[in-house]
Amino acid sequence: KRVVFSGIQPTGVPHIGNHLGALAQWQRLVKEVAAQPEESRDELYFSVVGMHALTVPQDPVRLRQERRDMFAVLLALGLTDPKTGAAVFHQDQVLEHGELAWYLNTVTPVNRLMRMTTWKSKLVTLRNAKSEDEIDDSMLQLGLLAYPVLQAADILLYKTTHVPVGHDQSQHLELCRDIAQVFNRAYPGRRRDGKGKGKGPFRMPEVMLTTHPRIQSLRNPLQKMSKSAPSEASKIYLTDSPEAIHSKIKTAVTDSIQGVTWDPENRPGIATLLQIYEGYSGEPVEDIAKRYTGQRGIMEMKADLAECVSEGLRGFREEFARIRTEEAYLREKEREGADKARATASRTMEDVRAAIGLD
Ligand code: TYM
Repeated sequence: KRVVFSGIQPTGVPHIGNHLGALAQWQRLVKEVAAQPEESRDELYFSVVGMHALTVPQDPVRLRQERRDMFAVLLALGLTDPKTGAAVFHQDQVLEHGELAWYLNTVTPVNRLMRMTTWKSKLVTLRNAKSEDEIDDSMLQLGLLAYPVLQAADILLYKTTHVPVGHDQSQHLELCRDIAQVFNRAYPGRRRDGKGKGKGPFRMPEVMLTTHPRIQSLRNPLQKMSKSAPSEASKIYLTDSPEAIHSKIKTAVTDSIQGVTWDPENRPGIATLLQIYEGYSGEPVEDIAKRYTGQRGIMEMKADLAECVSEGLRGFREEFARIRTEEAYLREKEREGADKARATASRTMEDVRAAIGLD
């Protein structure tokens, strides 16, 4: 039986990169599990990771709104289908995440964390901003360094076997596996029958990457589409109106070569659009490209793509607009999800505490 866990930060409404890279896969898993017989269903946990959002400065009013919106997004995507028993919940409402993160901190070497790309790129940003000896050390918080350990705790807390994420998360998953192994070796616990040493509390999680490569920015095809990028035109939000989708795709950066061809190396802008097209139509990129050969090929492809994305998101858009303001319903679903997650989390923590000797 698979146990699936994945998380998303509540920093604004997700964009189509988050959707194609991760959320669409969560939706696929929900459909798969709904078709499984009840006794042998996979377990699904999808979390809005509020505690992770604090590794950059947040305004409480804005965070509160975005955290709610992200939860409504997950509901509107249909992830709480009652036939699957999936738990959709706020990480920060299940306190065991913080507890386990601390235990994992105690077996994680600091230099391993200093090799993570997110941390290194933060150092580079600071270095570029000022000369090296002027680096403002107060901008390097322990929380940012420990971010991947909290992520490992999220995953291991549910004895997860599969983690559906985009490619940018592979390094975090590798670290998670290493931490699990070290912890299991350090704290094997006892076998269930009491005869001899156990194998440790955690299972080894596997990363489940989508077939979609990461989706790049519409303004600069050499950068990934990112929630934190300042340019609104660089990303399409799942809640964008059809007009906004059309205008962002129309102004997306391409090139001056005639027609459309699949050539990611030399035509990264066109490749990004084709990947999005494939993502929302299911048609292979090469087949799509073949249809747009003439002088107006790129323009025609952009118009059809905008229509395809806009239609693909219609159901979600309508559902999100409907439930976003239904406070009582959202509260109820939040409680339900947190209760379900907590039931599993507290069982894992009993094993963990027993293995450590803090039971
Ligand atoms: P986050 O919130 O940045 O992104 C959520 C998911 O979206 C994927 N993604 C993309 N995929 C394709 N193209 C893109 N341009 C793109 N941008 C983002 C990400 O790979 C991710 O799957 N650290 C995680 C949150 C997290 C987590 C976890 C994930 C915390 N704990 C435990 C899995 C398991 C993050 O910042 O995701």
